[in-house]
Amino acid sequence: MNRRELLKYGALGLASSYGLSRLPAFAQSPFPQPRTLEVLRADGVVEAQITARQSNLTLSGKPARLMTYGGFPGPTLRVREGETVRLNFTNNLPEATNLHLHGLHVPASVDDPLALVQPGESRLYEFTIPKGSAGTYWYHPHVHGRVAPQLYAGLAGLLVVEGPLDALPELKGAEEHLLVLKDWLFSGDRIPAWTQMDWMNGREGNLLTVNAAVRPTLRAQKATLRLRLLNASNARYYRLALENHPLYLIATDGGFLEKPVELPELLLAPGERAEVLVRLSRPGNYRLQALPYDRGAMMMPGGMNGMMGDQGMGQGMGQGMGMMDHGGMGGMGDTGMMGSMMGMGATRLETLLTVVAPASPKPLPLPASLAPVERLEPARAAATRRFELGERMMQAEFFINGQMFDPARVDVRAQLGSLEVWELVNKTDMDHPFHLHTYPFQVLSRGGKPAPYRAWKDTVNLRKNEVVRIAVPLRDFSGVTVYHCHIVEHEDRGMMGVLEVRD
Ligand code: C2O
Ligand code: CU
Ligand code: CU
Repeated sequence: MNRRELLKYGALGLASSYGLSRLPAFAQSPFPQPRTLEVLRADGVVEAQITARQSNLTLSGKPARLMTYGGFPGPTLRVREGETVRLNFTNNLPEATNLHLHGLHVPASVDDPLALVQPGESRLYEFTIPKGSAGTYWYHPHVHGRVAPQLYAGLAGLLVVEGPLDALPELKGAEEHLLVLKDWLFSGDRIPAWTQMDWMNGREGNLLTVNAAVRPTLRAQKATLRLRLLNASNARYYRLALENHPLYLIATDGGFLEKPVELPELLLAPGERAEVLVRLSRPGNYRLQALPYDRGAMMMPGGMNGMMGDQGMGQGMGQGMGMMDHGGMGGMGDTGMMGSMMGMGATRLETLLTVVAPASPKPLPLPASLAPVERLEPARAAATRRFELGERMMQAEFFINGQMFDPARVDVRAQLGSLEVWELVNKTDMDHPFHLHTYPFQVLSRGGKPAPYRAWKDTVNLRKNEVVRIAVPLRDFSGVTVYHCHIVEHEDRGMMGVLEVRD
């Protein structure tokens, strides 16, 4: 296979993630799977090494200078419930970074967003995978102020926890795929510097990829697919729908539901994961689409994206926004031109990938039940707290309860072992995905309406002016942890708070 053929596959990091000898397999099945991290496994202990580095890769046939964990997506860490993981992380970037284990219920002293790993240094992350946590998680950097540029540049990978339920015939018989959704913006082979608009909205890009491939084809061998989905984008929302097929949601951020939930479409906000079953009952080609979604960003994604097509955005957008950054922004008041651009439409419909069903598909029955999801008792909550999301848009400053993040300040003190009810209130004109570290929670209600099913979550989207109530059991680990908006630009610009749980 020559370089040209290689490029044809379009998957970024293919050449670096896979040995060349393994490439021909993709001639039959070009759907790029994230590489699995090699581990040493003995006596319930899993040892592995992850390195962050600058990477020159190929994305959509073009060179791309990125920062990755060795290709994009980073290698998938696959572990089992109950295992102890010794993850040695090395930073070969020219800037400080670290590793956050997004969604895992492990001590905050291990998964510490304030602990940095300096260039050339290493840090050992040692933790035990809780029982009952089987599901889809991920890892990414968490350096306050630099999360947006580092995540956008490709520092993200999946962490899959396997458990006893995966042996269920209706799951085991399904064809499993990992789908990392991410958009990109390039200027030549580089990711351009962040503009004021990017800090305000969270940066989106015009190049949409699944496992770093542009509109790949997934030729299903089996009639039942189990898709593990991650939104690894900084700010883009994916309103997912598969042509002619409902999605059967079986797991959310923190693992399995009690039974599959049939959905015509699924909204995946930044940071969120979901697992769905797809039942292909007729041969054919079906597109997995991202339907239009208006998250209230101040850009004009519809118009701009439409105008720019597949090639464009890099130059035009980059420079346009750059001018705003250095030029006129200061002069435009809240009610000026920028204000009137508020929420100027949704993203346009995009095809993410095409599923080709097998010739005479016979899908498996749906699992009748999955895992019990504990019923929390909000009436017995030890505390009810209110978290109000706010912004000073023109300054690109973001707040929780009127304050920007300060690592030296504890915003919430809580008692280990207690259950709390948190009322999350979005007072802004934009969606914000609220994320809590260390302690998985359940959504109780949205806009006063009870949640339709019980599920473990670590990230929940708040539409503008929406109120979402969540139940948060503060179990097992005391320590200092954080909650924040997972539009990571907002996190970098202040929308984060500190929670201290005391014994
Ligand atoms: Cu995925 Cu604190 O973040
Ligand atoms: Cu997290
Ligand atoms: Cu936000």
